Amino acid sequence: MQIVIINGSPRSKGATGKILSMIKENLMSIDKSIQICFYNLGEIKPRFCDGCLSCYRTGFCHIKDDGIEEISKEIENSDGVIFGSPTYGSNISGQFKVFVDRAHLLVEQLLKNKPCITLTTYENAEGGAALSILKKLVRVSGGYVSGSLKIKVEHNKNPIDSTATHKLKIITERFYKDLQRAKKHRLGGGILNYIAFHFVLKPHAIRNKARYNRTLDRQRINSIKYLVDQ
Ligand SMILES: Cc1cc2nc3c(=O)[nH]c(=O)nc-3n(C[C@H](O)[C@H](O)[C@H](O)COP(=O)(O)O)c2cc1C
Repeated sequence: MQIVIINGSPRSKGATGKILSMIKENLMSIDKSIQICFYNLGEIKPRFCDGCLSCYRTGFCHIKDDGIEEISKEIENSDGVIFGSPTYGSNISGQFKVFVDRAHLLVEQLLKNKPCITLTTYENAEGGAALSILKKLVRVSGGYVSGSLKIKVEHNKNPIDSTATHKLKIITERFYKDLQRAKKHRLGGGILNYIAFHFVLKPHAIRNKARYNRTLDRQRINSIKYLVDQ
């Protein structure tokens, strides 16, 4: 079983990183055989998407020196993904947004039927706004939100208290159960994904077949019924 964890904070050892590390430890204590790939975007420093759209045609990004393509592949091959970002200006961090632009999660439906955890930390207000953005990303990319958490924390304070520890334990256990269930019968990604995929993404790709060539292939590989064959 393989899990990918993405920390969208520029500070690897900040509040978000500490919480994600605790989820990682919880998972390891449930099942030592789980392989966990933990990525700190603050260290990776993903380069901006330059908007060339060549990934739609070719299936990969031409920017190769920051490892985002490899992370994207690992996400595709994983059984579940955990996304964490600090709240920045009622939103996800810039690092996380650049990652989303580069990782083609939505257009290739890379989270199809995967359980995901979404997490944000915030200091004062609007943690819910950042969390909504993460949850929507998961749903429109084909995944489902197994657990979701916003944790209020003062700057540079340790976010792990007894309440957080308890919540993280519950979230991790549910995530692990979902990972096992998903292995037997993968459920659909929900109504939002259905609408986003069948009424928005699919018709648009079909209308622009030449430009979306590789995207259509990738979606077929991800076992999604696609009109390109019809
Ligand atoms: C540029 C910037 C914008 C922020 N915007 C918000 C915000 O809108 N709401 C809030 O409650 N906290 C905000 N914060 C505080 C962070 O969300 C909070 O300190 C977070 O826990 C930091 O996570 P980290 O330690 O993992 O980097 C902001 C911090 C920064 C640096």
